[in-house]
Amino acid sequence: MARSLRVAPEYIKKVKSALERNGYPSQKKFSEDIGPSLSTVKNFIAGIAIDYENFLEICEKLGLDWQDIRYKEPETQAPKPQPTNGEASPLITGAPITQPRYFFGREKELKRLFNLLKRYPLQNTAIIGKKRSGKTSLLHYLKNITTTPAEQLRPEQKSDWLPHPENYCWIFVDLQDARMQSREGLLKYILESLKMQVPAPCDLDHFMDVVSDNLHSPTVILLDEISVGLQRCPELDDSFWESLRSLATNHTGGNLAFVLATPESPIDMAHNTGHSSPFFNIFGYTAYLGALTEIEARELIASSPIAFNNEDVEWILTQSSCWPLLLQILCRERLFSLEEGENDDNWHEEGLRQMKSFAHLLDSELAE
Ligand SMILES: Nc1ncnc2c1ncn2[C@@H]1O[C@H](COP(=O)(O)OP(=O)(O)O)[C@@H](O)[C@H]1O
Ligand SMILES: [Mg+2]
Repeated sequence: MARSLRVAPEYIKKVKSALERNGYPSQKKFSEDIGPSLSTVKNFIAGIAIDYENFLEICEKLGLDWQDIRYKEPETQAPKPQPTNGEASPLITGAPITQPRYFFGREKELKRLFNLLKRYPLQNTAIIGKKRSGKTSLLHYLKNITTTPAEQLRPEQKSDWLPHPENYCWIFVDLQDARMQSREGLLKYILESLKMQVPAPCDLDHFMDVVSDNLHSPTVILLDEISVGLQRCPELDDSFWESLRSLATNHTGGNLAFVLATPESPIDMAHNTGHSSPFFNIFGYTAYLGALTEIEARELIASSPIAFNNEDVEWILTQSSCWPLLLQILCRERLFSLEEGENDDNWHEEGLRQMKSFAHLLDSELAE
């Protein structure tokens, strides 16, 4: 019998609601009443392995059958876990997250963003966050989560954000991509994504005509790295942005919205780059990307293919301040050391060293 047990991902929701059902207003109150520490209770609820006896005790107090809800290792598993080969590892530390199953948290932001996109007129939003805070990952998630088949998601992951996701067209524009930096290139790309005919010449006037005549279903244009577009692309000038604004506000029946990602507020950014287009005033809601909540961070940590012990989980939470990239880096280092069979704390040093390049995330003055 394993010394530690964890809740299977598909039972996490049930476990959370069991707390309420049994009259506990908070995890803290529950831990005070039953004995095991608050961090043990938190780990239990987040699906992180805890001591076998604590697991049984908590289940009993919550009226849950521990055999039912525990995570069961596949029967035929080799005695020692296979070293992960990168492909199988959910820990991603370089590129933005593009597959929804590897994306964690941002529940609050997602709720607000989808709320503004599920009713007419669709509304424009800006996502502001420091470099490496997770802006691009969030844009990809918005685009993909509502139409990703359930079997490609984690069991507890919410995807029913929109009433008719199949009607939506999402267009991801990376303004760092050279092809997007000319007017014609960008307009052509948008038309092709909308499956509309590309006029010749593909200039702003023709583009406006084609889109206002043919756009009848909800469409969201995600503009990543917009400040690059403003700084480096003379063709994307005020009249260009002004046309896009007018398209969204007057010519598409409320079917078109923009979500942009930027390290600073759109108005400041326009100002600093010498732009004056009203385009930058249409962003009625701004999501500021900070760290994840502790619960979200614990879920990310629990996705490690080898469970971490309590002490490691607490250390990772503290050192990362729950920033997703820092969590990923520290989890990766811990996982690597466990796969190598190391049982000391030497991985701490390497983890902190790897985090150094992203220390700006921990700099609280610039947080929002
Ligand atoms: N929601 C998330 N869940 C898991 N990891 C994330 C999440 N958001 C960001 N990350 C981590 O942070 C890194 C940087 O994210 P990214 O989206 O590229 O940031 P930005 O676009 O703000 O520079 C990613 O490589 C990934 O490791
Ligand atoms: Mg980015």
